This record gives sequence, C-alpha cells and structure tokens, in this order.
Amino acid sequence: MDSSELNQGLEGVSVAETSLSRIDGEAGELLIGGLPVAELATNAAYEESVFLLFEGRLPTAAELDDFRADLARRREICDSVRAVLRRAADEEKPAMDALRMGAATANLGTGTDSSRETARRVVAVFPTIVATYWRYRQGDDPVESREDLGHAANYLYMLTGEEPSEAAVRGLETYLNTVIDHGVNASTFTARTVVSTESDLVSAATAAVGSLKGPLHGGAPGPVLDMLRDVHERGDPEGYVRAKLDAGERLMGFGHRVYRVRDPRAPVLSSAAERLYAESADEDFFETVRAFESVAVDALAEHKSDRRLETNVEYYTAALLDGVGVPQELFTATFGVSRVAGWTAHCLEQSEDNRLVRPVSRYVGETDRTWTPVTDR
Ligand code: COA
Repeated sequence: MDSSELNQGLEGVSVAETSLSRIDGEAGELLIGGLPVAELATNAAYEESVFLLFEGRLPTAAELDDFRADLARRREICDSVRAVLRRAADEEKPAMDALRMGAATANLGTGTDSSRETARRVVAVFPTIVATYWRYRQGDDPVESREDLGHAANYLYMLTGEEPSEAAVRGLETYLNTVIDHGVNASTFTARTVVSTESDLVSAATAAVGSLKGPLHGGAPGPVLDMLRDVHERGDPEGYVRAKLDAGERLMGFGHRVYRVRDPRAPVLSSAAERLYAESADEDFFETVRAFESVAVDALAEHKSDRRLETNVEYYTAALLDGVGVPQELFTATFGVSRVAGWTAHCLEQSEDNRLVRPVSRYVGETDRTWTPVTDR
C-alpha cells in the first residue's frame, strides 16, 4: 500500500505563491491586489481591477484609457464562432457549455499573440460569447459591441440591445470586481495546472470554465434564486429550511471550504443589491432575502453544530444579478465573465515561476490479478 498521506480535496494544502489575492478564512478577510475587497469592489471600474491583477498595481488615468480601449478592440468574434453559439442555443445547451465552446475558440483570428495579449483577448471576449449565445437563445440577432461603453456596460448592452442604467452598470461592476479573484479555488487551480504543463492560456481558460460549472463552485446562484423566489412566494422560511435539511439536501449559498465566518464578499454584494432594490418595485423581495439569511444560518447551526456554515458569496450574487437584470440562466457564465481575469492572471503568475503540477494518488485497486483471455471470461 502507498504510504503517502491522503488529502482528498487538498484542504489546507498550499500549492502556489500568489500576489493576486489573500484569503483569511478565520477572520473573514479578503484582499485583492492588496486592497480590501469592499474598497476595490465599490470604487473600481472592472478594467481597473483587471489591470491591477495583470500588472500588480492600479493604472494611471492614461494607462486606464489605453487598457480600456485595448480590451474593447479585442471583443469581436468571427462568424464560425457565432455559428457554434447559435447551434448551442438552438439545442438549448446550458450557457456554461456555450461559454466553454466559445472560450476554446478565443485564439481564432488573433495570430500568435504573447501570453499577455492572449490574457487580454480572453478577458475581452467572454462577455461577447455569453451575450451572443443569449441573443440566439431568445431568437434574436447578436448585438454588436460598442467601443464607447466600458466592459460591464457593454456586456449588459450586448445582452439586451439597450443602453443600461447607471445603477445596473454599477451593480454589475461591483459584482465583477468582487469575484474577480479568490485564491486557488477549483477553477483557478485547474487553470494553473493546465499552464504548468507549458500549455496555453486559451486551453487553461477553457478547462477552468468546465471546473466553474459545477454546483459546488460556480453553479450555486441559480438554485439560490429559485430558493429565494420560492420562499418569497410561499412564506414560511423556517418550514422551507427544515424540509430541505430533513431531506438531506444542502442549502445553496451557505458553507465554504475556506471561510468559517460570513464570506467577506457577502456584505459587499448585499449592500450593492440593497441599493438596486431600493429603487425597484421588487423591494419586498430583497427584504425576504435579508430575513431568510438569518433563518438559514440559525437552522444550519442547529443542524450541524460541529461545523460553522455561514453565508457564502453566491447567496447575494443571486439577488444582485437578478436586480441588475442578468438572466438567471447566465449567472454562472457571468461569474466566468469576471473570474476569467483571475484565471489568466494566475496563469501568467504560474508561468513566471513554473513547476509542473503533479500530485500522487494512493492505489487501492487489485494487485494480484492474472490475465484471462476474453474467450474465458
Ligand atoms: N447545507 C447543508 N449542509 C451543508 C452545507 C450546506 N450548504 N454545506 C456543508 N454542509 C454539511 C455537509 O453536508 C457536511 O456534513 P456531514 O459532515 O454530515 O457530511 C459538512 O457540512 C461538511 O461539508 P463538506 O462538503 O465536507 O464541506 P466542504 O468544505 O467540502 O464544502 C461547499 C464547501 C461550498 C462545497 C459546501 O458548503 C456546499 O455544498 N455548499 C452549498 C453549495 C454552495 O453554496 N456552493 C457555493 C460555494 S461558494
């Protein structure tokens, strides 16, 4: 038997040095590029956050203008990629499948770019892929990108064909900044693992989309919204939670591998959502969201007294993205639209000080088989 120590899920294992983000799971603190998440999220344009990750500092005004224009120029996709996205939409494939297919084509028509240029291209093109797929899903034609609009505003514009309100853009921008990077989570580790073989950033981003798709990672906010709408319509939050937990189900939007306290991104998103809902006709829905959080946390404490299960990022993501007007089917893909900057920044970092990622496994299979010809089995 292999004597190496087994750590399924790599809990608590350090696999990389990074200057991109720092998580303190006990204190509930998150720094992105050295800034507290709340400060970055509420002040920065998304392009500033991306620059911060790629360059290790905030841009000057001139650098920001150049960077913004450069990303805007890299948004276009070609007809053959549109055809793939149309097919994905016609077959009603989930948005994350479409994003994975689209991501894989991100280097088409771009020549042989450096890794840094590829990183910019991948970040720039993700919203176009998601919005193009969505327009086809709705039976509409894709909307051409507008270079005069920033990354967040243009994403909303390409989804709807209408210029978004300032409040919606600020809400989305806060979201995109909040989730742009978060240590070595599953999808980021996936991306780093791919480039550790000296593969490329498009391959890494494509693999990372696949990793983000699962409900234990990026797939939670859609089910969170279903849960919250259900509770809002039916009332009886205590009964709802009890029924779920008694049935052995997990409450989406709660629990985290690293945080043992409330996820520090939750209050950032909650405040952003509160501002949006205060101006909307759906204000009482947000009151349900607020009230349900404490009912759920109390019930989880009773249900699992040996493990603190607190609100995670996905809980208020659902409310915020819904308030911004992002369709529920696109919640996880919109997470990808933000996190792709974290993935590619990690890839650049990994490549600067690379060592092939190659863990070991403990063999628990048969050891004393002998070969039996197929005719004798
Ligand atoms: N609801 C109910 N029980 C939960 C729970 C939740 N949201 N999250 C964890 N638990 C329970 C598990 O059932 C497990 O109980 P057990 O020991 O009796 O089997 C225990 O807490 C530990 O769970 P485990 O899966 O080992 O913890 P983890 O660190 O791997 O899990 C998550 C982290 C995020 C995968 C987990 O909390 C979860 O599934 N949350 C819901 C999905 C979600 O919101 N995902 C978004 C993450 S940002």
